[in-house]
Amino acid sequence: MQALTALVEQALAEVGGCTDLGALDEARVRWLGKKGALTEQLKSLGGLPAAERPAAGARINEAKVRLQAAIEARRERLGREEIERSLAAGRIDVTLPGRGETRGGLHPVTKARLRIEALFRRAGFDVATGPEVEDDFHNFEALNFPPNHPARAMHDTFYFPDGKLLRTHTSPVQIRAMLERGAPIAVIAPGRVYRCDSDMTHSPMFHQVEGLKVGEGVSFANLKAILHGFLQAFFERDLAMRLRPSFFPFTEPSAEVDMSCVFCDGKGCRTCKQTGWLEIAGCGMVHPNVLKASGIDAERFSGYAFGAGIDRLAMLRYGVSDLRLFFENDLRFLEQFRTL
Ligand code: FA5
Ligand code: MG
Repeated sequence: MQALTALVEQALAEVGGCTDLGALDEARVRWLGKKGALTEQLKSLGGLPAAERPAAGARINEAKVRLQAAIEARRERLGREEIERSLAAGRIDVTLPGRGETRGGLHPVTKARLRIEALFRRAGFDVATGPEVEDDFHNFEALNFPPNHPARAMHDTFYFPDGKLLRTHTSPVQIRAMLERGAPIAVIAPGRVYRCDSDMTHSPMFHQVEGLKVGEGVSFANLKAILHGFLQAFFERDLAMRLRPSFFPFTEPSAEVDMSCVFCDGKGCRTCKQTGWLEIAGCGMVHPNVLKASGIDAERFSGYAFGAGIDRLAMLRYGVSDLRLFFENDLRFLEQFRTL
C-alpha cells in the first residue's frame, strides 16, 4: 500500500515537471506503458493471496486512473501554452511605423497601348473590341481563309474541344466592326491574341492593335501615310521603316512593316536575328471577299487594314531586348517603367 502511494506520488511529480509534450509522452510510457511501473504492479497481483487480490487490484486501478487524469490535464495545459507561445511569437504590432510605400505604375505594354489609342483617336479612329475566345468564322473564314488553306497553319492556333479557339490575331474584330457599323468606318482594335509560339521576340500571349479604314477612294498611299505618321509620333525619333511584300488572305496587296532594330542600329544582333530589322506589323488593302463577307459593297468602298504587335512596339520604344520580360512580372524590371 505504502509503496503504491509513494509510486503514485513520484509519478505525479514527474508528470507535473514535464515542460513539453514529448517529455510528457515519455513519462506516460514509463508509468502506464506495457512495461510501465504501474503496469508491473498489476502484473504482480498474481503473487498475492486470492483474498487480497480484489482490493489491491482496485487500488492499483484507481492509481492508474488518477495518473491518467493528471497526464491528460498536463497535456491540455502544455498544448495551450504552446499555442499561446506561437501566437505571441507571430504577433504583429500594428502600431509600428510602416516601411514606406512605393507607388505602382502602369505596365509598359499598357502604356504603349494607351499611347497608340490616343494617337489614333486624334486621327479620327474609334476604339473597338471583340472576344478573345473566337469562332472559326470570325478568326478565319470571313477573313478569306478557305478551309484547309495553308495560311491557317501559320497561326499555330490554340483550339477548344468545342471547335472555338483563342483568337490568333485582332483581325476578327475587323469583321465584327464592319458587320455592326457598316461603311464608312475607321477603327482600331487593341487586345490580347494567342499563338503556340515562344522565343526572344515571340510570346504565346501577345498584344496586337488592328487598324481598319474603309471608305470611298481609300488607297494604299493612305495606308502608308497613316503608318508612317503613327510610327513617327509613337517613337518620337527617326527610326527607319520599310514595307516588304507579303501575303495575307484578307488583304490584297499585302505587306509587312519592319522597323530598324534599336538594339544594334540596324547592324544585326540577337534580337533582330542578325537582320537589322524587327517586324512590327502586317498590312494591306482589305480583300473584296472580306468586304462582301461583312456586308459592304466592294464596288463602292475600298479600305486598308493593318495589325501591329504592341509588345514589339513597346520593345523598340523602351529598349527591351527580350519580349518575354514583359510577361514575367519581375518587379525589378517593371519598376523601371514607373516614371516613363
Ligand atoms: C497578322 O496577325 C495579321 N492579322 C496582321 C494584318 C492585319 C495584316 C490586317 C493585314 C491586315 P502577323 O502574324 O504577321 O499578321 O502578326 C502581326 C504582328 O504581330 C507581327 O508583325 C508582330 O509584330 C506581332 N507578332 C506576331 N506573332 C507574335 C508573337 N508570337 N509574339 C509577339 N508578337 C507577335
Ligand atoms: Mg508577320
